[in-house]
Amino acid sequence: MPYGSRLAAMMTRRIGRECVYTPSARLALYLALRRWCRPGARVLMSPVNDDVILFVVLAAGLRPVQAPVSQWDGNIDPAAVPESTWRDVDAVLTTNLYGMPDRVVELRRRCDELGIPLIEDAAHAIGTHVDGQPIGTFGTAAAFSLSKHVAAMAGGFLVVEDARTRRELELLRDDLLTPRRLRDDLSTTLRPLARSAVRTLHLVRPVWRTMQRLRLLERDDFRMALHAPRLAGSARHAPSLAAYEPWVRVDLHGFRSRHGALVRGQLELRMALLDGDLARRRAGVSLLSGTAWATPALRGRAGDGPPSLFRVPLLVHDRDALLERLVDHGVVAGYVYDPPLDDYAGAEFVEPSPDPTAARWFAAHTLPADPLLARRIAAALTKERATAAHPPLSATQVPAPDPTTTLPTPLGP
Ligand SMILES: Cc1ncc(COP(=O)(O)O)c(C=O)c1O
Repeated sequence: MPYGSRLAAMMTRRIGRECVYTPSARLALYLALRRWCRPGARVLMSPVNDDVILFVVLAAGLRPVQAPVSQWDGNIDPAAVPESTWRDVDAVLTTNLYGMPDRVVELRRRCDELGIPLIEDAAHAIGTHVDGQPIGTFGTAAAFSLSKHVAAMAGGFLVVEDARTRRELELLRDDLLTPRRLRDDLSTTLRPLARSAVRTLHLVRPVWRTMQRLRLLERDDFRMALHAPRLAGSARHAPSLAAYEPWVRVDLHGFRSRHGALVRGQLELRMALLDGDLARRRAGVSLLSGTAWATPALRGRAGDGPPSLFRVPLLVHDRDALLERLVDHGVVAGYVYDPPLDDYAGAEFVEPSPDPTAARWFAAHTLPADPLLARRIAAALTKERATAAHPPLSATQVPAPDPTTTLPTPLGP
C-alpha cells in the first residue's frame, strides 16, 4: 500500500479525484510544479500570498509572475492580466485566498486555450465550491492542507486527474520525504493539543507576548526575512528543495517528514471531524459577513448560503494597530500577506505586477478573521471602534464579477 493511502482514500471520497497524501500542502505544490513545469518556466500567481509559496515556486526553478488582483478578495483578476502576459506564461497557480474561490472557470478556459496547466492552491479552500463543484477539481492538479483545518499541524494532499499520474507522483513524493523521527512525530502530535490547551485556558495573550519577547517566532514581521544574497545563491542549485529549505520550512519544519502511524492516525481522526469544522466555519462566516467590515465579495451569496472559509477577509482602517490590540482580546490573527510579494522580494526574484494598486490596498487593509472565533472578534472590533475601509475607487467601481459575488449592501457590525 502506498504511504498515507488511508488518508488519501478519505480525501478521494470527499473530492472525487485521485489523491496523493503529503505531509504538507507546500510539498504537494512543489511536486505539482516539478511535474508540470520545466525549469525556467513562468508561473502566473497572485502577489497576495504566503511568502512560503513564493519560495516553493523558486525552489521548483520557476519564475513567479505577479498578476493584478481583485481588490475585494486578493485573488488573480484574469481580465486585468495584459494579453502580452498571458502569451508569456507557462502555468497558472491560484490561491483561493482565505478560502474565497479564485475565478477558476475563467482561468481554466484561459489555460485550456493556451495549453498550459492550471495548478490550484486549495490550502485555504477545503470546503469551497464554485457552482457546486469543489475547488481543487478545476485544475490539472490541486494542493490541500490539513494544517489549515481541523487544527492539525501537519498533512496535505496533491489531487490529480487519473490513477497513472497519482502513481507517478507517489514515487516522486517518496524520493523527497525525509526519514521518520519519533521525536518529531511526538512533537507534531502534541503541538495542536498544546495550542488548544492555551486557548481553552485563556492563555493566548501571555503565551504570545512571551514568545514575541523571547524571539521564539520565526517572523518578526508579516513576512520572513528575505536574505537576498543567500537566496540569489540558492538559485544556482534550482530546482532543488534542499537549497531553499531554510525559507520553505518556515512555520512547518516537518513539511517533508515521513510521519509515522501516530501522526497519520491522529490526522485520520481529525479528518473525520472535518464536516463539523466546516459547519462551524459557515456559522462564523455568516456572522462576520453581516458586519460593515466584511469584504463586499462575501455579501448576498444568493442560494448557496455562507461559504466555510478558512479566514474571513475584513477590510479595516489601522489594520496593524487593530491586530496588536486583538492580542489583548485573546486573538492572534496570523496569515497577513503584506506587503505583496513583488514589493517584498523585488524584481530580482519575481516579475512585478503591471498594476500593483489593488494588491497593495488589499494587503494593507485586510484583517483575516478566524470564523471559529467570530463572536469574540466581532465584539473586540466593536469595542476597539474599528472602521471599515473602502478602496479609493470603490465609489465608482463594483466588485469584479466572480462566482460568489453580488453587490454589497453595507450592514452595521
Ligand atoms: C495560500 C497557502 N498555500 C499553501 C500553504 C502551505 O500549506 P502547508 O502549511 O500545509 O504546507 C499555505 C500555508 O500557510 C498558504 O497560506
